[in-house]
Amino acid sequence: MFKGWIATGALALCCMTAPLAETQQKPVDAEGHQWWQHAVFYEVYPRSFADSNNDGIGDLNGIASKMDYLKDLGVDAVWITPCFPSPQVDFGYDVSNYEAIDPMYGTMKDFDHLVAEAKKRNIRVLLDFVVNHSSDQHKWFQDSKSSKTAEHRDWYIWRDGKGNEPPNNWLSTFGLSAWKLDPKTKQYYYHYFYPEQPDLNWRNPAVEKAMLDVTRFWYERGVAGFRLDAVDTLFEDPKLTDNPVLPGKDKFGRPNMDEKYNKKLPEVHDVMRKLRSTADEYGSVLIGETWTSNVSELKDYYGEKNDELQMPMDLMMTGFKGLSADQYRKHIGAVDAAGHWPVYVITNHDIVRSYTRYADGVHNDDIAKMMAALYLTLRGTVVMYYGEEIGMENNDPKSKDEVQDPIGKLGWPLEKGRDGERTPMQWNDSANAGFSKVKPWLPVPATFKTHNVVSEQKDGNSVLSFYRQLLALRHKEPALLEGNYVALNESDPDVLTYVRRYKDEAILVVLNMSATEQKAQFDLSPLGFSSPRLSILLTSFHKPLTGMTDALPMEPHSVFMAKISQTSAGK
Ligand code: NOJ
Ligand code: CA
Repeated sequence: MFKGWIATGALALCCMTAPLAETQQKPVDAEGHQWWQHAVFYEVYPRSFADSNNDGIGDLNGIASKMDYLKDLGVDAVWITPCFPSPQVDFGYDVSNYEAIDPMYGTMKDFDHLVAEAKKRNIRVLLDFVVNHSSDQHKWFQDSKSSKTAEHRDWYIWRDGKGNEPPNNWLSTFGLSAWKLDPKTKQYYYHYFYPEQPDLNWRNPAVEKAMLDVTRFWYERGVAGFRLDAVDTLFEDPKLTDNPVLPGKDKFGRPNMDEKYNKKLPEVHDVMRKLRSTADEYGSVLIGETWTSNVSELKDYYGEKNDELQMPMDLMMTGFKGLSADQYRKHIGAVDAAGHWPVYVITNHDIVRSYTRYADGVHNDDIAKMMAALYLTLRGTVVMYYGEEIGMENNDPKSKDEVQDPIGKLGWPLEKGRDGERTPMQWNDSANAGFSKVKPWLPVPATFKTHNVVSEQKDGNSVLSFYRQLLALRHKEPALLEGNYVALNESDPDVLTYVRRYKDEAILVVLNMSATEQKAQFDLSPLGFSSPRLSILLTSFHKPLTGMTDALPMEPHSVFMAKISQTSAGK
């Protein structure tokens, strides 16, 4: 039972700049935490963030021009998805030169300018390293396909077919076979993604050396780390054993497969260790695109000796259906108990936006605030996706001929592709949401009229205002930065309640995950608060909090955060 009383408190919004350490290795607190453990990361999809030269496609100068916005929001590090030269078959994830900038996005000088602008504001810049494959237009692959004896032949995976058939039954995750016959040398090459993205052969030491050198190139240019793309797919069974076929069909109408021979091979971890030791030479941080089905798999990506990725992303919450307090509680509890530093993500450029996933048509903004409070108050680091902070929604193509993402063309209508979650950032309510003066490469959704930065900055109750307040608290409150996670009311099916506790500091977080009002009750005495006083830090309530006696009335999909202290009566 709840025994306390509540004091309201105003939250001052100010610039909460945690001082950055001189070097990245230097701990930033008494707990020995590194800068990235206290940082808020923000993913920018460069095609869609800000278009400085009005060609309909975002660019590096566009990103640089928004640094004040990011600083004010509370962002400490920006991960930019690939901005390297690319034929753009997979919108940058097909890299044709790892050590340059695509002219579509600007020049190397623009990149240096972006890093400098970020640095002035204590924001770090991370790039995306596409480790598994290059573009088929990369000079390595061009040479590789030129003859069986070419210097780079063994930089990719070439095999003879079986008669007129590919070497085995492996499938590309983007549709069709994972093998493409090259007429010149009459061998097949392997591609887990599009045929224009041939897999690099990481068993070849020359590939390994070249790729590690790429990371050095960028570290020396001031990059603070990388998000590593598609790490699960780095190695394949050298015997090319067929994958077991499972019942049912996938979105492309092909048989489901257990990809045991071309995904998550143990050798992946050797490469993670090598990438890590190179990153360590520069005090840099590695984020992993780590798709795992359980916490134990996720644990493996930190490395047995903590010598792999500092930040393997926990992408599991992105697959949760609906809003079940119980599901989140179990997952968070398991991640927390695993003992590593969690990295929470609720969406990205490959996943339907969280706003769209959970919107019920009635409480949409409330749900966006509740999801924000969920992942931004947990122990660990968060990686936000641009536009989440303003409640951007998906804008999926309405017909096949509108689709840009090739998987949407191939898999239509079951697979609509990823255009919907990659639409231009909504800066204001003018034409094209202020992203560009010309028609952008993808259409903005109609909701940009209400959900945009300028309008939301003026509205104290907007999703953006809520994010700013939350991020300010996250940077300032020791309990949110350092505290452990204590679950309360573990059998409540509707309300997720927990305390973040650090020494004498404790913060209570109450999230009503249901669409109806709930009366939340909690007993804080086991935490040593026999007569607690709650000072409100932040709520998303629409009405003033009144009538609280034994229980806390929680509006549908609402957030309540308060600092807990012991009243003198209870001492
Ligand atoms: C994962 C990236 O996030 C996705 O956008 C891309 O298509 C694949 N990897 C292939 O690089
Ligand atoms: Ca542009």
